[in-house]
Amino acid sequence: MNERSIENVKIISIPKIVDEKGRGKLSVIEKSIIPFEIKRVYYLYDVPSDSFRGGHAHKNLNQFMIPLSGSFEVKIDDGHNNKKIMLNKPNQGLLIPSGIWREMDNFSAGSVCLVLASEVFDESDYFRDYNSFLEYKKK
Ligand code: TYD
Repeated sequence: MNERSIENVKIISIPKIVDEKGRGKLSVIEKSIIPFEIKRVYYLYDVPSDSFRGGHAHKNLNQFMIPLSGSFEVKIDDGHNNKKIMLNKPNQGLLIPSGIWREMDNFSAGSVCLVLASEVFDESDYFRDYNSFLEYKKK
């Protein structure tokens, strides 16, 4: 996991079904579009626009993050390189594998971030200290 780079972080398009009678859109996530089995689902909402979320990396957890409503930015960092990705389409999710530091900010009013996760919650799977994360990536 420590060799993972930001190249392993990918936008995945979620199939979208546009209603022929103009009744809106429907997107569906089936197991074939994400490369892990889902063991947990959680979501962030009521996030003030000046808040930061994330600020951690995972040892084993893989995640797929979807801006169900509104938009926010995700900064991803592998210890060598980083980049910012704007998520603002409910049919485009971000696959963040283990071994990648992430920070989220610039949440729009009313935005909702849905996260599909490959493992149940485990605090010992987190790197919450950036320097410890860098040490791990050097090994
Ligand atoms: P955290 O993962 O740090 O949130 P974020 O990355 O969005 O800033 O989690 C925030 C708090 O919620 C932390 O105390 C752990 C707890 N938590 C759970 O109990 N279960 C979960 O599935 C998640 C994701 C977090």
